Amino acid sequence: MTPAADQWWRSAVIYQVYIRSFADGTGDGVGDIAGIRSRLPYLQELGVDALWITPWYPSPMNDGGYDVADYRDIAPEFGTLALADALIREAHERRLRVLIDIVANHTSHRHRWFAQALAALPGSPERDRYIFRPGRGPDGNEPPNNWLSLFGGPGWTRVTERDGSLGEWYLHLFDVTQPDLNWQNSEVRAEFLDILRFWFDRGIDGFRIDVAHGLAKDPALPDLDYIRTSPYPIHAPYPRGNHPFDDRDEVHEIYREWRAVADSYVPPRAFVAEAWVDSAERLARYVWPGQLHSAFNFDYLRSPWNASELRKTIDVSLDVLNPAGAATTWVLSNHDVERHVTRYGREVTAIPSVRERPAAPGPSDIALGTRRARAAALLMLALPGSAYVYQGEELGLPEVLDLPESALRDPIWKRSGHRVRGRDGCRVPLPWTRRGPSHGFGVNGSWLPQPPYWSDYAVQGQREDPRSMLSLYREALRLRRDLPALGDGSLRWLTDGGPDVLAFAREPEFACAVNLGETFVALPEHSRVLLSSVPLVDNTLPPDAAAWLAT
Ligand code: NOJ
Repeated sequence: MTPAADQWWRSAVIYQVYIRSFADGTGDGVGDIAGIRSRLPYLQELGVDALWITPWYPSPMNDGGYDVADYRDIAPEFGTLALADALIREAHERRLRVLIDIVANHTSHRHRWFAQALAALPGSPERDRYIFRPGRGPDGNEPPNNWLSLFGGPGWTRVTERDGSLGEWYLHLFDVTQPDLNWQNSEVRAEFLDILRFWFDRGIDGFRIDVAHGLAKDPALPDLDYIRTSPYPIHAPYPRGNHPFDDRDEVHEIYREWRAVADSYVPPRAFVAEAWVDSAERLARYVWPGQLHSAFNFDYLRSPWNASELRKTIDVSLDVLNPAGAATTWVLSNHDVERHVTRYGREVTAIPSVRERPAAPGPSDIALGTRRARAAALLMLALPGSAYVYQGEELGLPEVLDLPESALRDPIWKRSGHRVRGRDGCRVPLPWTRRGPSHGFGVNGSWLPQPPYWSDYAVQGQREDPRSMLSLYREALRLRRDLPALGDGSLRWLTDGGPDVLAFAREPEFACAVNLGETFVALPEHSRVLLSSVPLVDNTLPPDAAAWLAT
């Protein structure tokens, strides 16, 4: 079903560009705007509707750009504002919408506001934009509370005051270079409304909101009950809406203000929330009328490769989000989690809890994971709502598990005391060509080393191969555009496939069947097979396979 043009986000397929690793147009080993511009024809040919570009702002890049030093400019290594304008224009000419990332929970320590806060006195308006507090204990030597950084290690750092004395502490729920902003401060709120306008005025179609669940903090800053503190902190459950910093009810006031800004544009601009919350009901609150347009469905991303679990997640997502008037989203991978080809090849295919990567993941059968990823793509792209494709997922890239330690850049590696390798393995630059320096990512090297087998995954080879992952995605996206049944709308479950089969119908005249079991199963009634993740034999669906059917 095609929604009205100003509700494009209800059915869009949005491609996530992790800018450092997508394409390097300047030959410095780091992806950039020039690279994205040169690959717009690829994205158009792939058949996606929009791009979401991860932070491209000036930054010391301690957290891949999620540490922003200036929200109204472009990092020199990525390009210039003029190049960003050109990219937005050219994407629009190709009917690709552009979303960018807004990082509002924290700035970089290199942001001018943080420099001003350090130069100012305790209790000053400059300090009030962040969360500064005196320490505990007789000399203030103890942090103001026991909060830990979500990347590991302490959540507070003590500053040296102007006179050289040891002074206050500031909160950083992520890296020490990412001080948390104080969202009770009216200047902070006004500044971000202005930043939204700055980019909307330049023509962007929307924002992905980083850490959307985290902006509001309990000003009393109470201690937390930790169940585990290392290598990642996990805290005890809290009464909903009342956790000191996760998913607090006040956060919604902020989004009502943001929505009003988005709605003041023609056509209205859109938001997608990165909200890690503990239930679909809590997620729905972010997309209630007057707030955000959509939110990533992380329950779906975290689900194991199991029919009843996936069905439960799909049902709950549809039941809870549709009454809120929101479209559902579906997502399998992003730059923070293990690539799903690798995850689906493991014995444990779920991501256990919101912030965890499997601690001791065990081996992965990549052939099995790839087969499942093909089926998972057809399932995701047939579900009602919009879908996110993380760059390289359309190539079937696995996680790179053996990056040399010297190459690791994720702050998690250092902050976990070298116990958790972090997220670099899903951020390795894309292979475009079979040969050549950095496999066509750029003309020189790449900021993270690509493994030798990357040539087997290159766009160049996959484009020519009708059985490749890329060809599957392209064909699925082509059909998704053509078939009125796909995109926004609803589904009806078909029940005769058995417990390991997910089969559903969408109107008009479409069905999708996915076999998550270990034996061949009969396809539901159909007139024609439109697409399948593996070749079908005798009208049966093999294990770990999916088919799209005309009914
Ligand atoms: C979520 C982003 O996706 C992640 O990459 C980043 O490290 C944190 N937010 C902090 O900004």
